[in-house]
Amino acid sequence: METFQSLLEKKLSEALAKAGFPGTGDLTPATDARFGDYQTNAALVLAKQRGENPKTVAEKILAQLDVGEWCETPTVAGAGFINFKLRADAIAKKAFELCHDERLGVARTRSTRRIVIDFGSPNVAKPMHVGHIRSTVLGDALARIAQFLGHEVIRDNHIGDWGTQFGMVIYGWKNLLDRQSLTRDPIAELVRIYKEANQRSTIDPAVREACRQELVKLQSGDPENLSIWKQCVDLSIQDFENTYALLDIHYDIQRGESFYNDRLAEVVDRLLKSGLAEISEGAVCVFFRDIPELADKPCIIRKRDGGFNYATTDVATVDYRINDLKADTIWIVTGAPQILHFRQIFEIARREGYKADFRHITHGSILGEDRKLMKTRSGENVPLRELLDEACKRARAIVDEKNPDLSDAEKIDIAHKVGIGAVKYSDLSQYRMTDYVFSWDRMLSLQGNTAPYLQNACVRVRSIFRKAGEGRPEIDKSASRTNSSGGELVLAEAAEINLAKRLCQFGEVVPQILNDFRPNILANYLFELANSFHAFYEACPVLKSEEPARSSRLALCDLAGRILERGLDLLGIKAPEKM
Ligand code: ARG
Repeated sequence: METFQSLLEKKLSEALAKAGFPGTGDLTPATDARFGDYQTNAALVLAKQRGENPKTVAEKILAQLDVGEWCETPTVAGAGFINFKLRADAIAKKAFELCHDERLGVARTRSTRRIVIDFGSPNVAKPMHVGHIRSTVLGDALARIAQFLGHEVIRDNHIGDWGTQFGMVIYGWKNLLDRQSLTRDPIAELVRIYKEANQRSTIDPAVREACRQELVKLQSGDPENLSIWKQCVDLSIQDFENTYALLDIHYDIQRGESFYNDRLAEVVDRLLKSGLAEISEGAVCVFFRDIPELADKPCIIRKRDGGFNYATTDVATVDYRINDLKADTIWIVTGAPQILHFRQIFEIARREGYKADFRHITHGSILGEDRKLMKTRSGENVPLRELLDEACKRARAIVDEKNPDLSDAEKIDIAHKVGIGAVKYSDLSQYRMTDYVFSWDRMLSLQGNTAPYLQNACVRVRSIFRKAGEGRPEIDKSASRTNSSGGELVLAEAAEINLAKRLCQFGEVVPQILNDFRPNILANYLFELANSFHAFYEACPVLKSEEPARSSRLALCDLAGRILERGLDLLGIKAPEKM
């Protein structure tokens, strides 16, 4: 089904053509509800181009514009904006259509792509910390949204399982390991030996050399070191899996850095042969002399000591994703510090002739209350697992207080959905590039733009249907009450018209998210929808109202519940049955 926005856009471009103007014209939601629901600045743009009076141009467009099926007569306002106001009967009709649309008004995209999304991608032998939330949660939401729009999505966890940290980890394993601690809490022990080795090597050159030797042995295939490495990787992956289970995050493939090891030499040879890379001071580098901001920033793909690095692996990763996975689109989600790295990698790929659409989707940081990078009291990174457990614990305390009579099983389920939902939502509701201050009180509040507030709206819908005892959906009943002009709902009160209008916007909002990878657009929409729903609920009795309003309102409740739940699901958030 088509959104109002797209229907009106078509009419606008028809009118422009008829009036003899070039182009199609932008039509956007109105910035101020007092002027209507949509607006276009087409007349302003055209007038400027042609040196004509904007109002005259607007009048010419209006004379050809035929939107009577959905709108009041459009008006010209201000310097020459054309405003559109939807008619209540058109809204009722569209909302009714929506009740029967399992895609809830969101059209499948016409140009489907095969997208590899690289997100999360933590490093082995280090715990996932709070800094990993953003990439993980943002990548997952984008994957869900892309999939819902009809794209083919491959979620790839590019874990860092082959870095220089292994020199120290292996040295630590051989000299510092406490087996009992390893059994009790493997990651904590791995981190401890890594840190200890790292510290010793900074003060003792002999330890530093020993660590380097361990790394060289690992890289040249020493069986003992390989076996230690493998054990560390397995332990870490097990730990990641636990966190992913808690977060309900799933990957299709997990190709860590080590997966590319035996392709690296070939990558460097190829780039040297094609002349894209050259030897400079003993290292193999790709220069970007023709790109001013990269001119003095070559990308090293083989170090002077012959070792390969992060960049070499990423060049090989591009090959694999395009040639083996047949991707035509690659999205990589990381923090902003990697901007230069991926600028270089994508530039190399372009020079090699790859035509895929490469996007580096970056994000800002999470700050503590002191507005500095969030740390524990002792100055460490906050382990993600601890943070998530804390979220569930705090959510549990709220449930205990608000709804003490629920069973323990129900409370656990709610605390999990609310706690994890709150953490995800507080992240996704921010513009991804903005740094934000992590605040338990704010994210768990039942008021304001929070997950619990939205989940509460879903719970309210469910409770209406529990009370009605009629079950969902109610749509079929209202369908039988259609009037002669075709199906529609009966909408009279301002609050219900407003709610229906919001529901019709879902199909306009979702496709927009991917333009600049901004799930916060969806979060904001859901927040407004929940506001409209609560306002409707205050103003319009549902179960106690007379027919035909009753069925119509039930249908609106059902639709609001489904859109809220689907919207939250696209953000990776679940709505509990009760709260
Ligand atoms: N492991 C890296 C980190 O923690 C992120 C990897 C991103 N993906 C990539 N293909 N380099 O920073």
